[in-house]
Amino acid sequence: MLTNYFITRIASLLNEKTGLPEAEIEKLMEVPPDFKMGDYAFPCYTLSKALKKAPNVIASELSKTLPSVSPVVEIRDIGPYLNFFIDRTIFAEMVLKKVCEEHDCYGSSSTGAGKRVVIDYSSPNIAKHLAVHHLRSALIGNAILHVYKTLGYTCTGINHLGDWGTQFGQLMVAYKRWGSEDAYQSYTVTDLNNLYVKFHQEAEKNPLLEGEAREWFKKLEAGDQEARDLWQRFKDISLREFQKIYEMLGIHFDAFVGESFYNTMVVDTVMRAKEKGLTRVSEEALIVDLEPYGMPPCLLRKKDDATLYATRDIAAAEYRQKTYNFDKMIYVVGSEQKLHFKQVFKVLELMGYEWGSHCVHVDFGLMKFKDAKMSTRKGTVVLLEDLLSEAIERAKQIIEAKNPQLENKDTVARHVGIGAIIFADLSAKRNKDVVFDWNEALNFDGETGPYVQYTHARLCSILRKYGKAVTTRVDFGLLKEDETTVLLKSLEQFPSVIVRAAEFYEPSLISNHLIAVCSNLNRFYNTHRVLADDEELARARILLVDATRQVLKNGLKILGINAPGQM
Ligand code: ARG
Repeated sequence: MLTNYFITRIASLLNEKTGLPEAEIEKLMEVPPDFKMGDYAFPCYTLSKALKKAPNVIASELSKTLPSVSPVVEIRDIGPYLNFFIDRTIFAEMVLKKVCEEHDCYGSSSTGAGKRVVIDYSSPNIAKHLAVHHLRSALIGNAILHVYKTLGYTCTGINHLGDWGTQFGQLMVAYKRWGSEDAYQSYTVTDLNNLYVKFHQEAEKNPLLEGEAREWFKKLEAGDQEARDLWQRFKDISLREFQKIYEMLGIHFDAFVGESFYNTMVVDTVMRAKEKGLTRVSEEALIVDLEPYGMPPCLLRKKDDATLYATRDIAAAEYRQKTYNFDKMIYVVGSEQKLHFKQVFKVLELMGYEWGSHCVHVDFGLMKFKDAKMSTRKGTVVLLEDLLSEAIERAKQIIEAKNPQLENKDTVARHVGIGAIIFADLSAKRNKDVVFDWNEALNFDGETGPYVQYTHARLCSILRKYGKAVTTRVDFGLLKEDETTVLLKSLEQFPSVIVRAAEFYEPSLISNHLIAVCSNLNRFYNTHRVLADDEELARARILLVDATRQVLKNGLKILGINAPGQM
């Protein structure tokens, strides 16, 4: 729903004439597709029944009888719509004063005050490289977390590490046989991967190895010290690599709590499900039958007693509810796990948890790579660290060519390179697949992160050139041109875009809005001289430039992207 001072005033005008409640009018208000048709429009269909007249007749009558009182300057009927034109001077003043007053907080609100959101994102599996879907999850999750924080929610970001499962038994066998005790300090995830490969090669020749691996996993489950120590090493090696990547991305988690943590709790979880009469044994495994809901059964325990991914997710949800008492829990996980979450949420509901309905699976599509070199390396494995380093390197070359004098080139290259990847990931609707293309992502003139960053840096440079303090004591009547108004509108809409991004868990709404702000800014900039000879005019336009800079900065920050002041 749109709402602001102008809509409220229009609603009260319409209410006086039609008797329709103001809240309902506000809900119905629209923005015409072209601002030349008006700033806001009211569709007259709703009144048609009560008044027994065609909507366009009502629109025409109302346009003649409604008084144009400030801030409304003109009312026109266009078909079934009643279109309102508002006073641009008042509009400019309201928008610019608000941005200026709230600066870094412009876009924030307190709607979420006192409410808590838990977000489960990235969540890679130890002893394996962080995969592309863990990167997407990290970026989308981080942006959603910022969106909710901006709206005043208390947010807890959790990395639900995949650190439990029978495969760790295999790794232990491999490590004991072929690993190096001395070199383990310098082990990387690649070394652990090689051990896995070796295990599978050898197990083909020697089937006893599989049994040995199961024994080791049993030991781990039973808390055997040696098994625990080995597992801890694998975890440390993996976390070292993950942290390096998160640091490059500027992503921080409140907690790294892996699946292993819930392993002691699953016994009770399973018991509660049993007590509710939800479980039954099928082929020696314990399941919750979900056939009445059109889903395959949810497996709680395998016949060898080992618990499963789903069981640990159910236990984790119970634990998080107890610990955080969340109002909403968001899982940012790829679309291929849709069924898994539907099952988990259903089981929670059947267990009688009313908060089960506050759990949301925010799914997303694949990220593919246009560059054949990246996508063919060992199937689809892209070493993310290489990807990020290459982005920074490429950004550096571009900056070197564009602005060789720039100070802090390395820092700026980091911000631009990483920004390009984040923005590329967040600019398509999340459930769409994205195709990553270097030339597109790093194009300073495309719909990219570097384009938004570059526009921001240009505004900073105009402000530096102006050299005087920005003030809101300007003649707002000077900010009435079409291009100026269109730009102002996109600044005014920014807070409502954040609200919608939260509602739909959709960071692309923000990235796309920033692109729109940039094009509106460029249109304004190409038509009007900011540093005009007329001092009064320059002062007013500089205020607009500063507000635009602020909106770009705030928007990029929510997406997890830095906004360098020079580039
Ligand atoms: N580790 C899982 C994977 O890589 C993702 C975990 C997502 N979070 C969760 N609570 N299940 O597929």
